[in-house]
Amino acid sequence: DYLGLGQLKFSIQDFSEFMKIYSPNLSSSRLVSGNSIIYDDLESTISNWLNFKNCLIFNSGYDANLSIFNIFKDEDILVFSDQKNHASIIDGIRLSGLDKKIYNHLDYKDLEGKLAYHSNKNVQKLIVSDSVFSTNGNIVNIKKLVELKNKYNAILLIDASHSLGLSIFENYHDVDVLTASLSKAWGAHGGIILSSNDIRKLMINQGRTLIYSSSLPIYNLYFIKKSLQCLFDAGKRREKLTYLSDYFNKSFKVLFPNQTNSASPIKKITFDRLDVAKKIYNTLFENGVFLSYLRYPTVEKPTLRISLSYFHDEKDIDKLLELINQYYQGEKNV
Ligand SMILES: Cc1ncc(COP(=O)(O)O)c(C=O)c1O
Repeated sequence: DYLGLGQLKFSIQDFSEFMKIYSPNLSSSRLVSGNSIIYDDLESTISNWLNFKNCLIFNSGYDANLSIFNIFKDEDILVFSDQKNHASIIDGIRLSGLDKKIYNHLDYKDLEGKLAYHSNKNVQKLIVSDSVFSTNGNIVNIKKLVELKNKYNAILLIDASHSLGLSIFENYHDVDVLTASLSKAWGAHGGIILSSNDIRKLMINQGRTLIYSSSLPIYNLYFIKKSLQCLFDAGKRREKLTYLSDYFNKSFKVLFPNQTNSASPIKKITFDRLDVAKKIYNTLFENGVFLSYLRYPTVEKPTLRISLSYFHDEKDIDKLLELINQYYQGEKNV
């Protein structure tokens, strides 16, 4: 909930009117009788906004990433996937039984070497990457990936869950397929796939999580709609988040020179020892600071992940860093 849109107040009257217009329960897959005109309205607003030909709403970002790979199931395709891509991408590739090559995290030389090595013209190449990596906050170089996809005639698929709605990228115009969760900057729940008309058609025919699962409850679509309206005008919220990210980085660099910084709202501190990470997580929690504690196999090293939000301010960041620093006086493994 980077922009705090998940905590917006809403009018009960507005909500009740919405529920009256659209029947409360759709009770089946969108392909059976669970579709609604509100889905179509939202999809065309989202695709117009992001300048894609089409959009499809899924029940979650995870579902979107499972379905997108289904459409390549019976094709001669080779997927090139960043080493630190989200688990839903890994599962999507696996469940569709696609051949894949993993390239080192954000290492475009390694990617290019692999693309060049697998130069069989009859095999379609697909490059897939997170836009902002959920476990470390690193940001992909989309321009570089576009350059490589053009050079090697590949399809480029970006999971924009942690950047969509924020001011990290100017646009996604040269990306072929964009997937995203609606639970991050949107503060709602659901997933989307933005693509060409042909890919959307393939998804409707082959995307198993879309075909074989009941659609979202209607009230959920109300919140997607509400967040979308707010996203258009969330410039001030985005600016504040960028400011907080810079503020965090300045202090963090001084206190923890051996750790890496990110330009996204996801920050992280890694540890060599699990017990130390756990202890500091608990200490922070007891002091009213809640962050995520990631462990193997999600990450290689115990990691405390910080998600900055519009609701934070400088004092929160000072408090967080002060607490971590206090605890670590004398410890050398941060
Ligand atoms: C990069 C990325 N993609 C996909 C997902 C899955 O989205 P959802 O939670 O909507 O299923 C997540 C996390 O939740 C994520 O971080």
